[in-house]
Amino acid sequence: MSLTPPPAGAHPSPPGVPVPKVTMPALTEMKRQGKPISALTAYDYSTARLVDEAGVDLILVGDSLAMVVLGQENTLAVTVDEMLHHTRAVRRAVRRALVVSDMPFGSYHGSAAVANAVRFVKEAGAEAVKIEGPRIELVHALVEAEIPVIGHLGLTPQSVHRMGGYRVQARTAEAARDLQADALALARAGAGAIVLEGVPREAAAAITAALPIPTIGIGAGPECDGQILVFHDLVSLTFTPQAKFVRRYADASALFRSAIERYREDVEHRAFPSDAESYHLPARRATGVAGRQTMGLTPAGADFGTDDAVVNRDAFEDWAG
Ligand code: KIV
Repeated sequence: MSLTPPPAGAHPSPPGVPVPKVTMPALTEMKRQGKPISALTAYDYSTARLVDEAGVDLILVGDSLAMVVLGQENTLAVTVDEMLHHTRAVRRAVRRALVVSDMPFGSYHGSAAVANAVRFVKEAGAEAVKIEGPRIELVHALVEAEIPVIGHLGLTPQSVHRMGGYRVQARTAEAARDLQADALALARAGAGAIVLEGVPREAAAAITAALPIPTIGIGAGPECDGQILVFHDLVSLTFTPQAKFVRRYADASALFRSAIERYREDVEHRAFPSDAESYHLPARRATGVAGRQTMGLTPAGADFGTDDAVVNRDAFEDWAG
């Protein structure tokens, strides 16, 4: 555990100052005004804080968690409890963005769907849930239960076995028309937005123009009302070949790898920690006896370091007793 206190005022607006919250209706208003919606996944407190402080409008605690954080082969095995755990961490970090949780595979396919969705709102603080596929009745039921819902159409990763892999969908005119019909049905049922994944740009553009609610694209071209990427893809923290639609904005793998290697070398060469990174006993205690002398560590009369080397006073004082 780090003993370093969090830097004060790291958030653009200090704690206590209200930040205008992004809501589901605000996304529709952004579409109306032609303002692009930025969305990104996050799965933990620190990245969610960075994403929120950067002004991203929507944070999805995606079930991609299974692959990029938990190292699973696909998204199918992640559980409701795991998704809740990560949603809580993200929720604690976020002040402005809309926090959306992915409902994992199997959690919304039977009679417990609404009860499971309620858990995301009640136990983890999600402000909307996302479900894959044209589940019109379920969207009705969720809206009836006051749970905002985002649909997800096109390449739906939870259908990987049915699709026979991660393949671009709606590649024929007929399939594109079916996709548009599904999107319109979700919108009529009360979905607040629709993620369009892995569909031809032309199909996504037509659907975006036809819908009263925003589309958020991932591998669906630039005409969508918003864009979403997986955080780990954006910063190159994945270990698999990237999809065509991913743009890497940073190379976090290289950055982390080099930092970790330098740390290991410093430890091996006893170059870390330095004296300045070490705590020291105070020069004089209230008794007038030097602490180190009291403990028999150094000879009397030696010159001791002072408290100014302390990096965390509370921790030091606890330790110094
Ligand atoms: O789980 C996820 O990250 C997603 C996005 C890719 C849309 O569903």
